[in-house]
Amino acid sequence: MNQPPSTTPATPTTAVAVHQVARPDGFPTADHFRFVEGRLPTPEQGTALVENVYWSVDPYHREMMDGAFALNAPLEGRTIGRVIESRAPELPEGALLLHRHGWRTHAVVRPDEVRLLPSYAGVPLSAHLGILGGTGLSAYVALTRIAQLQHGQDVFVTAAAGGVGTATARLGRLLGAGRLIGSAGSAAKVAHLTEHVGYDIAFDYHEGPIVDALRAAAPDGVDRTVDNVGGEHLEAAIDVSRDHARIAWVGAIGQYNSPEPPPAPRNLFDLVGRSIRLEGFLVRDYQHVQQELYDFAVPHIQSGRLGLDATVVTGFDQIVNAFLGMLRGENVGKMIVAATDQADQAR
Ligand SMILES: NC(=O)c1ccc[n+]([C@@H]2O[C@H](COP(=O)([O-])OP(=O)(O)OC[C@H]3O[C@@H](n4cnc5c(N)ncnc54)[C@H](OP(=O)(O)O)[C@@H]3O)[C@@H](O)[C@H]2O)c1
Repeated sequence: MNQPPSTTPATPTTAVAVHQVARPDGFPTADHFRFVEGRLPTPEQGTALVENVYWSVDPYHREMMDGAFALNAPLEGRTIGRVIESRAPELPEGALLLHRHGWRTHAVVRPDEVRLLPSYAGVPLSAHLGILGGTGLSAYVALTRIAQLQHGQDVFVTAAAGGVGTATARLGRLLGAGRLIGSAGSAAKVAHLTEHVGYDIAFDYHEGPIVDALRAAAPDGVDRTVDNVGGEHLEAAIDVSRDHARIAWVGAIGQYNSPEPPPAPRNLFDLVGRSIRLEGFLVRDYQHVQQELYDFAVPHIQSGRLGLDATVVTGFDQIVNAFLGMLRGENVGKMIVAATDQADQAR
């Protein structure tokens, strides 16, 4: 990777974008990316120029690196930007909006490809990439639509200390979950989950067979699983699922960096014998639930009952490091990159 520009954010006449320059074989490195500086784009009639203030780096970007991301072109990703020059009446200067032209300091956007962000007293702007964004919506949909959580039901969550994992526990608790059981990648994360996030019990999946740890944590089984990892984690979840359990399969972070075909659970037929429902979904098909999430979550954030979990890395020049760090498990909560350490005051 070439060295990122030393001064960020970019000066008003230049913009910087990250390009992918090579396909990874296994775990990606910084050399698969390049920071490219160019002229600040000019908005045409019906568009607006935004300066990005927060970026989301996501596991699905790793999947896109295998082919969906074009090489030597700006990447896509969810980001929050502020309009700094507008030729579209729907996008007034100063407006804060969510769009998908991430991995760059500035972007030209059309009204039909952005969502203007509501402002809620006491709610930080960055929450719109975390609990109020696709991360929180994934957790909320997994619990309410896919798993159809009922009051008092016990829930197992994998990648429990990540963005979706922490949101699942916090929302699950407010939705009336019974015992919350989480798996995570270090002793420090395990302690954090029970001391701060609200999990009743958690375990480090490196410490032995996952199914053994899960059986010990949930000797009477679980009713619901929200699985972010796949493979052995999903196999263990099936193993401890009670009759008529539901498993919401959100993702498979355990296999994105592997060039081998994903390991399927070997006990899939148990779904039949115990009438277990396993269902995957994509959050993009549930945008109609976004307002419901706002209505549910915002009052709880404002009252302090719903905590926010995020690892915020400052500086656009750190976006590649933040992405690779998220894949390595360096985040607790949602991994977010902020343009400055005062980005939340952009509001
Ligand atoms: N279906 C959808 O529409 C949708 C939407 C959003 C996210 N997702 C999926 O949800 C999952 C979580 O996404 P997120 O954005 O919240 O990311 P995240 O959980 O905040 O970050 C990824 C975490 O995965 C864990 N991890 C990495 N490699 C692992 C491995 N080999 N085995 C087990 N854990 C591993 C790491 O934590 P540890 O230290 O604990 O290992 C890391 O912190 C991903 O699978 C993602 O693709 C799906």
